[in-house]
Amino acid sequence: MIDFKHKPIMLNEVVDGLNIKKDGTYLDCTVGGAGHSTAIAKKLKSGMLLCLDKDEDALSVSEERLKSFNAKLYHTDFKNFEEALEHFKVDKLDGILLDLGVSSYQLDTKDRGFSYNMDAKLDMRMDKTQELSAYEVVNTYSKEELAKIFREYGEEQFANNIAKHIVQDRQEKKIETTFQLVEIIQKAIPAKIRFKGSHPAKKVFQAIRIEVNSELDKLYDTIIKLFQHLNKGGRLAIITFHSLEDRIVKKAFSLLSTDCLCPPSAPICVCGHKKEGILISKKPITASEEENAENPRAHSAKLRIIEKL
Ligand SMILES: C[S@@+](CC[C@H](N)C(=O)[O-])C[C@H]1O[C@@H](n2cnc3c(N)ncnc32)[C@H](O)[C@@H]1O
Repeated sequence: MIDFKHKPIMLNEVVDGLNIKKDGTYLDCTVGGAGHSTAIAKKLKSGMLLCLDKDEDALSVSEERLKSFNAKLYHTDFKNFEEALEHFKVDKLDGILLDLGVSSYQLDTKDRGFSYNMDAKLDMRMDKTQELSAYEVVNTYSKEELAKIFREYGEEQFANNIAKHIVQDRQEKKIETTFQLVEIIQKAIPAKIRFKGSHPAKKVFQAIRIEVNSELDKLYDTIIKLFQHLNKGGRLAIITFHSLEDRIVKKAFSLLSTDCLCPPSAPICVCGHKKEGILISKKPITASEEENAENPRAHSAKLRIIEKL
């Protein structure tokens, strides 16, 4: 049995925010350890919950945890959610949840190779059936490609230098492990910065993880498509953990909740765009002080919710 530990973030805020109807149909796109899903399922009577994840460990744990509820699980990337809806012959939904990023289980399980704090084979795949892993990224991407992902997905100030060191070192021998990579990153960052603030490898590890799991690819389009499957009054709730994701969610929600998209200088509206949704709160919802004190992962979390008109 897998020891799957993950505390659901802003559990009450998510459940209240989805405004769950007991006969509704709900989709959890990132079931993880079923923390949010269990709370949603408990509110249902004749309703149904569909759960997706691209990590098979998450699905097998959640299947067990949700077995007494009307919940169905499906292995896929949520970008292919329509395949799951077709499979279960569902079209319209009353609520959808995306709790983006990695679970604590994935981060804390050494052999998944996500953590810069544990020495393991470089991996970082959420979906172990996919080919691309951190090992291929680190050992085969060009210096320019590496620098680009460190800059864009990690907002890493020393992107070029870190990429240069990786390419130099891998000519001697392949970079097989997380600690080998950490050592190279440390060499490439000036000492006075290396010892300041968070772990020097944090940004590069985030960037490689985003690349390996295509975390930002098609996220915007998927949000727009998911929204189209909501019934009137249905809600889409999304939790993000870094600014790159949050920017995409904010932009998609803004398109869906804005009437006219003409430039402010246009004297009259010529685009004819009509809003389809309403934001439940203008600003993102963040975790309470109590939750932040007991769960450090909650600090960076932002929850945005939109309701279909
Ligand atoms: C933060 S955890 C979710 C935790 C969950 N809400 C809970 O309460 O236990 C994120 C989960 O989403 C999955 N995931 C991330 N991106 C995904 C994607 N594009 N498609 C499917 N699953 C994804 C990860 O494998 C992970 O299990």
